[in-house]
Amino acid sequence: MNEDPAKLSLSNFLAGETDDPLQAPPSFTNWMRVGAWAANLYEPELVATADARTTISYGGQPKSVINLCSYNYLGLANHPEVIAAAHEALRTHGLGACGSPMLSGMTDLHRELERRVAQFLQREDAMIFNSGFGGALGTIAGLLRKTDVAILDNRSHLSLRDGAVLSRCRTEKFEHNDPASLDTALARQQGRRQLVIVEGIYSMEGDFGNLPELLAVADSHGAKVFIDEAHSMLACGEHGRGAAERFGVQDHFPLVYGTFSKAFGALGGFVAGSKETLQYLRFYAHPYVYSCALPPVVIAAILKALEIGIRKPELRTQLWENADYFHAQLGGLGIDTGASTTYIMPIVIGDRERMYRLGHELRRRGLWVAPVDYPAVPQHRICFRACVTAKHTRADLDEALNILEDTLVPTALQNA
Ligand SMILES: Cc1ncc(COP(=O)(O)O)c(C=O)c1O
Repeated sequence: MNEDPAKLSLSNFLAGETDDPLQAPPSFTNWMRVGAWAANLYEPELVATADARTTISYGGQPKSVINLCSYNYLGLANHPEVIAAAHEALRTHGLGACGSPMLSGMTDLHRELERRVAQFLQREDAMIFNSGFGGALGTIAGLLRKTDVAILDNRSHLSLRDGAVLSRCRTEKFEHNDPASLDTALARQQGRRQLVIVEGIYSMEGDFGNLPELLAVADSHGAKVFIDEAHSMLACGEHGRGAAERFGVQDHFPLVYGTFSKAFGALGGFVAGSKETLQYLRFYAHPYVYSCALPPVVIAAILKALEIGIRKPELRTQLWENADYFHAQLGGLGIDTGASTTYIMPIVIGDRERMYRLGHELRRRGLWVAPVDYPAVPQHRICFRACVTAKHTRADLDEALNILEDTLVPTALQNA
């Protein structure tokens, strides 16, 4: 491959270049070597808690930063009550669950969390996965069959797409959040069982799923809709029940899926719904049956996080106030945040090399945002992703805005 490295992306290295499948393609290794200055923005080492201000390692040195990178939307990852609950479970239950939930890894704490999640979401039952990714993948692959069709938004998370691929069902895409495009996709696949898959908040775009309109279209075709509330659960809706609650459409989703890795500040995934469906899924979702249950210490922390999330709606109020403020200020600076209307905001740069250059400059100045490159987003939408949390103070946000203005705005003008 002789192409200019700046023009290549991760989508260019999928062919096997040698006769050894365990060897990385040499062109990829070379590309990484040439682009090491950019790639070293990835996998930064966090050397403190995922708090609004934290410390990462940058250039081999501890660097104090404003954190716009973590999913700790309500600040529960390091809440003192959550830490205390985890300590206590470590004492009573030890570290690991030491088995699949099906055989030996189900503790009383896991059962309690199932009950609490089901109660919280007003469902008959809930089941817990040891990762959000595995939960989405396992639920889709566990329920869809070869003769079915998964109809996915073209910005769907990879866990959902991979679940559909694993089920060997037919897949069909519709334009992001577009009811007309969904209508066409459903009409094209008439005569099969159809499952429309949407998200509460899209993790790269930071916009809400267009739930009422998409549900109406799916309904008119008699299709069921599955919702991934990974980024919206506990952080959206009056009671924290997600985007479906916010739009008043909870009853339209027979199953609701979410993660504990975002607003809960922990790890894992869950799906809630009818007893019968979950009884079936417990046996057919491979990441559930064939993988170890979450450590009890994590479950105890999630139980406490859920309790706090229910008890303190003011955390959601604070999160949304911060998000609205940050949006308005970014807009005032002329920074493109695409379709975002939530606490997840892409800061669109559009040019890969410039994005990585600016990414270093932002870190040097003490602002931590995540680089998002193609193919995670379209080439012309290459961006930073900023996540605002309830724990950011106005001073944190203003300092972040000053850094963004000093770093991005003059560059934008120079390039205009
Ligand atoms: C929409 C969506 N679904 C599922 C997942 C997987 O969740 P986890 O990170 O908990 O494995 C993510 C992760 O970011 C996500 O954004």
